[in-house]
Amino acid sequence: MRRIKQTLGKLGAILAVLDTQWGDCGKAAVVGYLLERYGIKYCVRFQGGRNAGHTLVIGGVKYITHLIPASVLYGGVGAIGPFCVILPEAPRLAGPAGHSKKRIGFKEEVQDLQARGVTVNPDHLVIDPNVAITIGLLLQNEAAREAGTGKIGSTGNGIGDTYEAVAGKYRITVGDCLNRQRLEAALQRVIAKFGEMADREEVITSLLVWGQWLLTVATIRPVNTWMHEIQNTGATIILEGAQGAHLDVLYDQPFATSSHIWPPVGLGNLQNVVVIGVLKAVPTRVGDGPFPTELNNGEDVRLRQLLGEFGSTTGRPRRIGLPFPPSVRESIRRFGPHCLVVTKLDPLVGERLCGWNGMMIDGQSVEWWPSVWDVWDREQPGQIKLERLVLTHRFDLPVLRGNIGGVTELDQLDRSALAFLDQLETRFDGVPIWGAKTGPDSAHFVQLWDLEEELGIQL
Ligand code: IMP
Repeated sequence: MRRIKQTLGKLGAILAVLDTQWGDCGKAAVVGYLLERYGIKYCVRFQGGRNAGHTLVIGGVKYITHLIPASVLYGGVGAIGPFCVILPEAPRLAGPAGHSKKRIGFKEEVQDLQARGVTVNPDHLVIDPNVAITIGLLLQNEAAREAGTGKIGSTGNGIGDTYEAVAGKYRITVGDCLNRQRLEAALQRVIAKFGEMADREEVITSLLVWGQWLLTVATIRPVNTWMHEIQNTGATIILEGAQGAHLDVLYDQPFATSSHIWPPVGLGNLQNVVVIGVLKAVPTRVGDGPFPTELNNGEDVRLRQLLGEFGSTTGRPRRIGLPFPPSVRESIRRFGPHCLVVTKLDPLVGERLCGWNGMMIDGQSVEWWPSVWDVWDREQPGQIKLERLVLTHRFDLPVLRGNIGGVTELDQLDRSALAFLDQLETRFDGVPIWGAKTGPDSAHFVQLWDLEEELGIQL
C-alpha cells in the first residue's frame, strides 16, 4: 500500500502566483524573482489572454508580455493552458477609444520578443490544442457592445465574446487552425450562431496560414500531459496568474473579466500546490466597476505619477485607491493563499498613507458585498457610485524611510518597512507576508522568511 506522503514526495512543487486585488499588482515581477532565485525553468499561463499585461524588468531591461509565460524570457519553457484565449494577429479594426497603446495579437507579441533576442520556438513554448481563438467577428461583437450602454471598459481584445464561444460550444481552437476540414466544421458552428460570414474563405485561409506559422514557434500538445511529465521529474512549475481576484467572472458582473482566478482549469494533477497571493499597498483598477477606496481629489493624479500606474496592455491611466485590507481578505476566502507578497514598496518612501479596514452597507457591517447590486447607485443605473457603502476602521500606516529601494537582504531593509508590513499583516486573517518587492527589477525582492525552509521542500 502506498501512502499519500510517498506519492507527493516524488512530484515537483507547483507555485501559483495570483493577484489578490483588481489586477496589475506586479505578479510578473514576483514570478521573475522565483525563476531567478530558484533557477525554476517552467511556467504555465492558465487563464485569460491578451487582456493581461505582464511587466518584467530583467537586469534593467523591460519586457511586457501578454500570453508568453515569463519562463520563456529566461530561456526556460512556458505553456499556455486550455482555458486561455488567443487573438491570433493584430486585427484590422481600430483599437477601442481611450486606449493609447496599439492593439497587437499573439503573432506580433512573439515576433516582438524574437526581435529582442528572446528564443520563442517549439522547444520553449507549448500550447494546448484546446486554447480558444478570438476571430474578427467576436472582436466586432465586443466593440459594438463597448460602444453602447453595455460598456464595461474591457481591454478590447474580445475576451468575453471568446469565452462565450467556449461556453456556447462554438469556439474555434488552436487545433482547428491546423486542419482545413476541422476548421470548416468549427466555423459552421459559428455560422449557425451568427449567420453566414461574408469573408468566410478569407477567415479560413488566414487562420490556416496562422496555424502553420504557430507550428514554427510552439509545440501544440495537451498541457496536462506536458505538466505531468515535468512534475514527474521532480521539477518545480510556476502557475503564472493573470487577472485579479476581483475581476473573476463569478462575482461583480458585468464589471469582471470572463475567466476564473482559481482553480486553473485543465492542468491535471494539482497536488503539491503552494499559492502565493500578491498585492500592492496602494491598489489600482482599470476599467469600470466598484472600487471603494478610490481617490479622486487630485491625490490620485499625484500617486498615479509617483507609482507609474498606467495600463501595460491599454495604456489607460489606472484608478488609484487607498490601502483596503478587506479586498485582500475577500481574496483569501476566494482562493486561499498560503502567503502574501507586497509589491511597489519603494516608491512609497516618505508617503503618509491611511487605509480603511472595514465597511458598512445600508448601515450593516459587512466583510464584502454579496453582489455588485448591493453597492449600485439606484438613481443612476450604470454608474457605480458606492452610495450605499460607508468605509469604516480607518488606520494609518507607518511612513517608510531609509534604505528600501533595491534592497534584497532582510538585514539591510529599513525597520520602517517591517513596521509597515507588520501593520498590514495583522489585517490579513493570519495569512503571513512572505516577502516584498523593493524595486522594478525581478531581483529587487526581500524574503522575510525562507520559503524552502518553511515548506520543507527544495524548489
Ligand atoms: P476583459 O477581460 O478585456 O473583458 O475586461 C473586463 C474587465 O477586466 C475590464 O475592467 C478590464 O480592464 C479588466 N481586466 C481584464 N484583464 C485585466 C488585467 O490583466 N489587468 C487589469 N485589468 C484587467
